[in-house]
Amino acid sequence: MARNVRIGVIGCGFYAQNHLNAWRDLAPQGAVLTAVCDVDPAKAKAAGETFSLPWYTDVEKMLAAEDLDAVDIVTRQDTHRPIAETTIAHGISTIVQKPFAPTWDDATAIVDAAEKAGVWLAVHENFRFQAPLRAVRNVIDSGAIGQPSWARITFRTGFDVYKTQPYFLEEDRLVIADVGVHVLDLSRFLLGDVSRISCEIQRRNPRVKAEDDTATMLLRHETGAVSIVEVTYEARRADDWFPETLLEIEGPRGSIIVSAGCRMKVTSDGSATERDIGAPLLSWTSHPWHVSQEGAMGACRHFLDCLQRGVAAETSGEDNLRTYALVDAAYRAAVEHRAVAPVRRN
Ligand SMILES: NC(=O)c1ccc[n+]([C@@H]2O[C@H](COP(=O)([O-])OP(=O)(O)OC[C@H]3O[C@@H](n4cnc5c(N)ncnc54)[C@H](O)[C@@H]3O)[C@@H](O)[C@H]2O)c1
Repeated sequence: MARNVRIGVIGCGFYAQNHLNAWRDLAPQGAVLTAVCDVDPAKAKAAGETFSLPWYTDVEKMLAAEDLDAVDIVTRQDTHRPIAETTIAHGISTIVQKPFAPTWDDATAIVDAAEKAGVWLAVHENFRFQAPLRAVRNVIDSGAIGQPSWARITFRTGFDVYKTQPYFLEEDRLVIADVGVHVLDLSRFLLGDVSRISCEIQRRNPRVKAEDDTATMLLRHETGAVSIVEVTYEARRADDWFPETLLEIEGPRGSIIVSAGCRMKVTSDGSATERDIGAPLLSWTSHPWHVSQEGAMGACRHFLDCLQRGVAAETSGEDNLRTYALVDAAYRAAVEHRAVAPVRRN
């Protein structure tokens, strides 16, 4: 029987609702949703009442009052470093939502603090945990297409993301930092680490402060594979498949194509098979967010399993620095009009 893990959720805003539901659903596997905290008393109270939990408006007070094994930080990136440094100083396993932090220095400071204290740290990077994208990885691992040599991975939508996340309009870095980070992480998950990246950014929506609501990136992976990663919040399409990631991957023996509606077609040695790889709706998920919500659930399930087994998460703080470095390199490549090698510290 796996040990119970007592979890406190910090930040009870828009996306935290998915984490709260996921942890509650993982109770049979040993997740014990124990307390919630938000500086906004109305949000803390609402989450506390919905999930029948004690609620707090101050992280230190929650840590003093509750016996927690882990915290799940679902606040925006500007608060990640001070909150994570606090929870790490208390020796509590810490999960931080993406983007890890506003700057490389902040992200590395969190990783260094965790390493020094010997505290387990993970980043809630969830696209790679979506069922359809896990299915793609399984096909690659099976060898059906051989070693991938080329890919196009796209996240193109005109869905009104500004409605649920109005703060996007004021961000200094938008589409690469927000959703590009997921898709770049996915490119690493499917094709391996990246040796250089070039990038063109566009601002197609005049309401956005950042220079990037659209980015087109070209990556050379360490295996020699080449991939194109495209992300935009400004695609105007009659059929908008938000928040699905569509992709094509080619290898010497065949290809994998994931098309709209979570359909996967695999060609291997000349014969093709096609199947539905979408995840079913859960009691608390709803269209179209269910694709993302199911990924959040998958990420939480993975973190719980790692905490119980005492092993690092796939998206440990250290691992996620490689994804973060890719985001930084993409912005630098866009400004300097050249291919840039991501910074590596491990
Ligand atoms: N993985 C995904 O697919 C996905 C999707 C959406 C958002 N996110 C991420 O989730 C995070 C939260 O985004 P959101 O849209 O839910 O933001 P939000 O503004 O709706 O919620 C953040 C909450 O944190 C609270 N907060 C701020 N400082 C705090 C502190 N010191 N202690 C406790 N609570 C504090 C705020 O009061 C607010 O309620 C961001 O990092 C965002 O990028 C991820």
